[in-house]
Amino acid sequence: MKNRILLFALCISINLSAQQGGMWIPSQLEGRNEKEMKALGSNLSAKDIYAVGKSSIKDAIVHFNGGCTAEVISKKGLLLTNHHCGFGAIQSHSTTENDYLKDGFWAYKAKDELKNSGMVVTFIKRIDDVTVQVFNGITDALSEKEKQDKISQNIKKIQKNAIKETWQEAKVKSFYKKNQYFLFITETFKDIRLVGAPPSSIGKFGADTDNWMWPRHSGDFSLFRIYAGKDNKPAVYSEKNKPYKPKHYLPVSLDGVSEGDFTLVYGFPGRTNEYLPAVALSQIVNTLNPAKIKIRDEALKVVDTYMRNDATIKMQYASKFASIANYWKKWIGESQGIQKSKAIEKKERLEKAFAAKVKGTANETILPMFDKLYSEIKEVALARDIWIETVYRNTEVLHQSFGLYQLELSAEKGEANFEKEKEKLLHAYKGFYKNYNANVDKDVFKKLVTLYFKTNPKKYTPNDLENTNVAMLADTIFKTSSLVSLDKVTALLQGDSKTVITRMNKDIGYSFGKTLAKSFYFVINPAYHAIQNKIAVVQKKYMKALMQEFPEDRFFPDANSTLRITYGQVKGYAPKDGVYYKPVSYLKGIIEKYKPNDYEFDVSQKLLDLYKTKDYCNYGVNGKLPVNFLGTNHTTGGNSGSPVIDANGNLIGLNFDRVWEGTMSDYNYDPEICRNIMVDVRYIMFIIDKYAGAKRIIKEIDFVHPKEK
Ligand code: ARG
Ligand code: ASP
Repeated sequence: MKNRILLFALCISINLSAQQGGMWIPSQLEGRNEKEMKALGSNLSAKDIYAVGKSSIKDAIVHFNGGCTAEVISKKGLLLTNHHCGFGAIQSHSTTENDYLKDGFWAYKAKDELKNSGMVVTFIKRIDDVTVQVFNGITDALSEKEKQDKISQNIKKIQKNAIKETWQEAKVKSFYKKNQYFLFITETFKDIRLVGAPPSSIGKFGADTDNWMWPRHSGDFSLFRIYAGKDNKPAVYSEKNKPYKPKHYLPVSLDGVSEGDFTLVYGFPGRTNEYLPAVALSQIVNTLNPAKIKIRDEALKVVDTYMRNDATIKMQYASKFASIANYWKKWIGESQGIQKSKAIEKKERLEKAFAAKVKGTANETILPMFDKLYSEIKEVALARDIWIETVYRNTEVLHQSFGLYQLELSAEKGEANFEKEKEKLLHAYKGFYKNYNANVDKDVFKKLVTLYFKTNPKKYTPNDLENTNVAMLADTIFKTSSLVSLDKVTALLQGDSKTVITRMNKDIGYSFGKTLAKSFYFVINPAYHAIQNKIAVVQKKYMKALMQEFPEDRFFPDANSTLRITYGQVKGYAPKDGVYYKPVSYLKGIIEKYKPNDYEFDVSQKLLDLYKTKDYCNYGVNGKLPVNFLGTNHTTGGNSGSPVIDANGNLIGLNFDRVWEGTMSDYNYDPEICRNIMVDVRYIMFIIDKYAGAKRIIKEIDFVHPKEK
């Protein structure tokens, strides 16, 4: 009997510790999540993580400029986020004499901190379930359109009547495929200053080659500070503003991590799609990803060749290249991961079980409807992706023509509106053309437009463009169009709307781009959304039915850029037979990868010296300095800059990436293979302290349990 109890207890604990993955809503952790976290080694209660009326960890987390995450790490509003999240700001303060991207930046005095116009960070003050209010008045008698309208009205009312302070905002967001709705009360600060950034040789070490990869050795962090008005409330920039006093900030633990330690990542994951049917996933793997990868493949090859042969082009295109390469590489890993983990087959098995359960009920139409709708959407979804990748993302002259087409449309709302949009474009052009090379763009144009005519579904290729001779067209556009130089495009836009639009329409670059833009606006997008809206209705039913039919399973809502937690453990992984990746990397690995003068793997003399003397203070362990580590936390884009928190609520790391074999986690999180990559907080503190000598910053931070060395 005793043995049987023991065995039973053992099974439970194995089962619980396997419960990883999921991005959970911080206000909903009591019960299941709290138990799972405890089983993984956490000492935190649900209320430590999220509370209203008293401070909790949530009060240290911000949405950083709408895209990344950052966290408050001192009582003076010091913010930690990734280098790649602060990149734009660091770049904007850089000049050829003071190149902060290359050399790093440190505000050794408070007055050295640099303002960033337009930068904002947002705290979440409260999260309320408002599902009942959102569905108020919705009955089966209403048509889908009527339901949608009523829901929109209800949402507007809830946002308008939300109880909040005057400086706060209210926003309702949908969860579980529009089966549940939450209201977010937020507070946005607008005076955010740059405090510190390591040189790119540390912050971006390994650049594109190491991106999405393990073993990794990147010091991907930067520091900012929130400033507030006299009353500690959000205020626009003023010299008189003071460092913000937070309700909570994260103490920094120098205890370090070991395999199996509990980790919690708190942040703003952008988008996942975990409940797609098999047919949708197979469309992504077999049709959409290959098309997008191919287009970026071609674009990257052209840009890479130019960058290798021309130092100016290398500077102009480095950031664009990195951003094209980022998702190109991700999609490749994602497709392979989906195949390797047999994600489609897994979904098919689930669907078989689901079909058996719902046989004879109203829900038995769900899966057949998916099949029908996904086969209907396939062609237009492909055309849409091809359009976005060809026109919008990768061919610069076509991207500009799309902007000009929107300018043309803006004239319909009057001259003042046109002027406003024109000024915006002219302003943006100043930055854009600094980093533009028409020869690069011409070659990209030739490759991508040729590919477009070869691969774009005929039905979605504008008739007027049939028989286009791409090489001749490219020659004409890049010889005569005003869109390929700042001076010419500025001249093109002089005058009132009528003059400008007439002139624009005589430009061959514009007119070709306009035809493509119109095909997107009036053909592709409406056709796509008509089907996508129907899919959303079925997906909503499917989500609800799954939760009903499999009540024992764990269902977490897909990411939607709202505040979430995810938890797991420090853990290595085995990407293939015979290979096991350890979960921690060290400074030694940087030296192993070191390639003098290489743009990805150069190491500064200062860091080489510190490595030689092994002067790691209490940031090192047994004569080694930890740099990055791996965990089983379920993260996605937007989680960059998220804090990694230990079992007691202290900061131990900074999230910045995932491993290549696990990028499929956006569709199929698999705890065996999906890992997030984090910077060890000790490496961050080491760089601030020993590398930069920024003692002022180190003094602000509360260190806990420092190991005596
Ligand atoms: N892959 C990471 C994330 O999506 C980091 C990207 C920045 N780093 C880079 N080398 N491009 O987005
Ligand atoms: N690097 C991503 C980000 O910028 C994080 C990820 O996709 O894992 O948010």
